Amino acid sequence: MTFYKTLLKHIRHWPANWHRTGPLALSHKLNPCRGLLTDGSAARPRITENSVEVFSHVYPRDDMTNVTDKILSKVGCQLHNRPHHPLWLIKERIKDHFYRSYIGRTGNPLFSVHDNLSPVVTVEQNFDSLLIPPEHPSRKKGDNYYLNRTHMLRAHTSAHQKELVRSGLDRFLLAGDVYRRDEIDSNHYPVFHQMEGVRLFSNHELFARVENGEELSLFESGGRRTPQKQETHTLEAVKLVEFDLKQALTRLMRHLFGEDLEIRWVDCYFPFTHPSFEMEVRFQGDWLEVLGCGVMEQELVCSAGAGNKMGWAFGLGLERLAMVLFGIPDIRLFWSEDERFLKQFRLSDIYQPVIFQPLSKYPPLFNDISFWLPAEGYTENDFYDLVRSIGGDLVEKVTLVDEFTHPNLLQSCLHTACTIKKESRLTLVLSLESTVTKRVSHCYRVTYRHMERTLTQEEVRIIHGAIEQAAEKELGAQGRY
Ligand code: PHE
Repeated sequence: MTFYKTLLKHIRHWPANWHRTGPLALSHKLNPCRGLLTDGSAARPRITENSVEVFSHVYPRDDMTNVTDKILSKVGCQLHNRPHHPLWLIKERIKDHFYRSYIGRTGNPLFSVHDNLSPVVTVEQNFDSLLIPPEHPSRKKGDNYYLNRTHMLRAHTSAHQKELVRSGLDRFLLAGDVYRRDEIDSNHYPVFHQMEGVRLFSNHELFARVENGEELSLFESGGRRTPQKQETHTLEAVKLVEFDLKQALTRLMRHLFGEDLEIRWVDCYFPFTHPSFEMEVRFQGDWLEVLGCGVMEQELVCSAGAGNKMGWAFGLGLERLAMVLFGIPDIRLFWSEDERFLKQFRLSDIYQPVIFQPLSKYPPLFNDISFWLPAEGYTENDFYDLVRSIGGDLVEKVTLVDEFTHPNLLQSCLHTACTIKKESRLTLVLSLESTVTKRVSHCYRVTYRHMERTLTQEEVRIIHGAIEQAAEKELGAQGRY
């Protein structure tokens, strides 16, 4: 499995009975935030014909540019920094656990917390710094939001690992909004939040508690890479780091979910850690993946200027944890401005237990849209983005309900061709063959639902009509409406 699939899984694989959590309604009064700068001043991201402007920086557009106004309107919202927001609440519980569990000699917390780093990163930070090869599928334009060839909205908080290690930090937590192009439903939103943790060890730190540990070493030369370890690491060092990592994360999850939580470890692959693991927790009878982690690739640690140390890193999805912990049934609720939602998390103490009480649910309206795909360059995510840009959060879900490749078109055209003059036949057949053979049509079902009232078909028709028009104009689709 590619690491990016894993990344998606942070919010993807839901227990089969997830929807049984109860009826829900979403607020359409969505967060009106407009990309606040860290100093609080408004800086509305702008897309013009030639450039994209975010946080007062102008990025020239090029063939990789695919951010939309809708997505840029989320940049700077920083839900994880809004006091009493459920994502803030879970971040605070994690911070508090680390602050209290790792204390220095003078009572100082050992982990520093960074939650204000810009989500605009370089492609180098998001991929190259993490040893992700140039042709790796996770770089696909269809899966990421690029400002241009060199800059993008970070797809994971790991994008900052190298710079923070380079700045001299040995232990840190990092929370932030991350951006992924994806389908639309109650478990997927193109913006979500992650928390990253990194801990580095010097030789002394790792082996100090081991009897005769002074003789042990983090590194060996001439070693081989095996499923257990990297070539430069000793097996003793890896096993201790791996133990420390798993113990730290087990304690964190028990802290969040209680001592009875069942946990299991699954081997996996990330280009920037080896060995790598996913943690799964048992939730309502199913195993649910909650985080990815591993022993940091030494090449990364060395390139960040900490070559005499080795370490672990983990990344977890805050939405997923919050949904499980608080029983929040729909990921779009995190963007709600509805008091009925927000007030449930306004607690006097971050550890006060809270179970989300679902808001009453208004009925959905379904509208289908079918079109012929353009000959090339179409990805489903283009359509999902377009629907989201126009329909906003009134769109609850978009599903591909039918895919159809025209079987008879060529034949019927050939038939027509046979009825015309012999001389023109060949050219016509050849040109028809190249244009009509693989004509594919998609039919999508768009589910509309207002969070606070019953929608009428008349008002939905207007939005749906605008989507139909935009699919033709912007995606080059040919409507079958
Ligand atoms: N960045 C990975 C993801 O988003 C998670 C991860 C972080 C894995 C750190 C290993 C180490 O899926």
